[in-house]
Amino acid sequence: MDKKKKGLLDFRRMKDEGEKVTWLTAYDYPTACFEEQAGIDMILVGDSMGNTVYGYPSGTLPVTMDMCIVHCQAVRRGAPNTFIMGDMPFGSYQTNPDDAVRNAVRFFKEAEVDSIKLEGGRRVAPMIRAIVDAGMVLCGHIGLTPQSTGQFGGYKAQGRTAENALEVIKDARAVRDAGAAMILLEAVTPEVGGFIAKDLDIPVYSIGAGPLCDGQLLIVSDVLGIWEAFKPKFIRRYAELADTSVKAIAEYVDDVRSGRFPEDTHCYKMIEGEAEKLEKLAKNLD
Ligand code: KIV
Repeated sequence: MDKKKKGLLDFRRMKDEGEKVTWLTAYDYPTACFEEQAGIDMILVGDSMGNTVYGYPSGTLPVTMDMCIVHCQAVRRGAPNTFIMGDMPFGSYQTNPDDAVRNAVRFFKEAEVDSIKLEGGRRVAPMIRAIVDAGMVLCGHIGLTPQSTGQFGGYKAQGRTAENALEVIKDARAVRDAGAAMILLEAVTPEVGGFIAKDLDIPVYSIGAGPLCDGQLLIVSDVLGIWEAFKPKFIRRYAELADTSVKAIAEYVDDVRSGRFPEDTHCYKMIEGEAEKLEKLAKNLD
């Protein structure tokens, strides 16, 4: 039987009942199929694809709307019964509310997402308000926001001093007041995560924000051990697919070079009698 797709009302009920939401990124069709089969609640088609799929040295910044749409379409095909969130890339919403609405609409019309996410607190409140007023479901992303790590002086955890924690809490309230349906908190202390999850009536999810939030997000490439360039403190690996892949490819290279591949079982058979016929015919070739 097809999995029942969860929606906003389920996520609100789960918060009220203390049931944790499970959330992973996905960027392609096969991974989306795996995640839906495994029963994940929600998928983020993150602009982290800039790191994990495209290998850009500057991470998420070069990712465009067109790239995000194509990846969201593939993920939607792989996970038709899962709540999917498109990530608004750098430059697609910071300019003004009109650009923000136009680009958010593209996600829903062209890729059939259920929600979009954008980064920032008080300073993007007008864009959040405009997108929500246009009827879309939006997740705010605060704490450490990878699109502006330049301003943080690098990939630095937030909320480690009381003053800084207060800034994150003010951002959370501003995002909620602007109409966000949910919030993602990245790389903040568990004290801040727990405070905001309790303070707000909307679901508050964590990527590196501790166990007291209403659910957990991780980057699938970290979970599966595919992307090894950077290992934040908050990840847990459940597989080592980079190692497994390199070993498998090296074995294939070895087999081809040594003649162990292909074997008889990998070869098509000629119809009976045709090989002898071919031999005779080939003799008459110029
Ligand atoms: O793009 C992404 O995967 C994200 C996570 C880092 C939260 O935004």
